[in-house]
Amino acid sequence: MKSISGKELIFRGFKIATMASNAGKFKCEISNAPIHQTTDDSNYGMLQETAIGVADGKITWLALEQEIDIAGLTFERTINGEGRLLTPGLIDCHSHLVFGGNRATEWERRLNGCSYEEIAKQGGGILSTVSATRAASEGELFQTAAKRLKYLLSEGVTTVEIKSGYGLNLDSELKMLRVANRLGLEFPVSVEATLLAAHAVAPEFKGNPDAFIQHVCDTILPQSAELCTAVDAFCESIAFDLPQTQRVFERAKQLGLNIKVHAEQLSHTGAAALAANMGAISADHLEYLSADDCVTLGQQGTVATLLPGAYYCLNEKQKPPLAALRDNHVPIAIATDSNPGSSPVLSLLLMGNMACNIFGLTPCEALAGMTINAAKALNLDQSIGSIEKNKQADFATWDVDSPAELVYCIGGNPCAAVYKAGKRTEF
Ligand code: NIG
Ligand code: FE
Repeated sequence: MKSISGKELIFRGFKIATMASNAGKFKCEISNAPIHQTTDDSNYGMLQETAIGVADGKITWLALEQEIDIAGLTFERTINGEGRLLTPGLIDCHSHLVFGGNRATEWERRLNGCSYEEIAKQGGGILSTVSATRAASEGELFQTAAKRLKYLLSEGVTTVEIKSGYGLNLDSELKMLRVANRLGLEFPVSVEATLLAAHAVAPEFKGNPDAFIQHVCDTILPQSAELCTAVDAFCESIAFDLPQTQRVFERAKQLGLNIKVHAEQLSHTGAAALAANMGAISADHLEYLSADDCVTLGQQGTVATLLPGAYYCLNEKQKPPLAALRDNHVPIAIATDSNPGSSPVLSLLLMGNMACNIFGLTPCEALAGMTINAAKALNLDQSIGSIEKNKQADFATWDVDSPAELVYCIGGNPCAAVYKAGKRTEF
């Protein structure tokens, strides 16, 4: 009982999907009695009749509500869930939320038969967003990204990863990273900024990708290191090859940054295994991932981040190898990949639905993909992603009876309230 002070904010009256693999071992802070998990919960780590104590933005204890009542404990503030579901705040671990312009016209061209690769080879695609992003002021980029971010937040997102990659020169990559970080300061969300300078060959280096990679390694990467926590690269025939990708990652590691990769999206390049062997925290897309790659990801503990929005919007036919990922115990995350080209998506819950209906994940895997495994994909699973003592009090509460309903419906938003570090969000 010593760690319950009465000064806490408490959450009670919720069904709690902890998403914690060790939820079955949780003990009541008051009596040390085991907190029983709801049976038949398919690994959501469901707890009922359990209260959560929050102080200084963190979860300080879990206790059986009955024990609280018997001990007659009172608290400064109690939030009563009245039977609602409480989950960890959702985590969108792969987005390109900051960009100028949009690519609706290009989408129309794709519908008329021109492929994503053809458009890219003709100087459209990513490069058209590069022109619009370079031309946009920092304030404009902030305003347009803020508008998009609010849709994610309204659905319970409390952490979002945001990549650069539409600047492709030092000034514009820095501009994008500053905007990403400012979003995290002005909205109730943690932002993890990732440098994706190796997204496409900059127009100034057309025909000379090696020279561009040299510039990325010598100039852009070291000068961006203060503004980001990770470095990403797009390894694909329309972007960079394996040795170029490796050079970027070597430099990132020298600077102490995490590495992530856009890999095996349109073809198999071997980049996912390369990145995993170099210690990548995640490999993303992965439609063309091989069975051997799954073994490597599993051995290295690299998260497979699946992006059903890009699969759907590009009308891909090849699905990521779910069975092999499962067989090799690869943690699977799900993200929006929100970007103007391949995935103009502003709903993480919809991605959960698509991950189930298209890729075949279970609703529990989909929710893990947006919480604990998304936290792993950002190397933040020590502090967020599940409801556990000492983790950050980032919660989403929902007007649903069961967690599967979060990804069962398409459209409509069951989010009742969001708490960032214990504080109810307003934006
Ligand atoms: O994650 N694959 C590369 N990059 C983005 C798409 C960028 C774009 O088309 O603007 C993605 O799908
Ligand atoms: Fe992406």
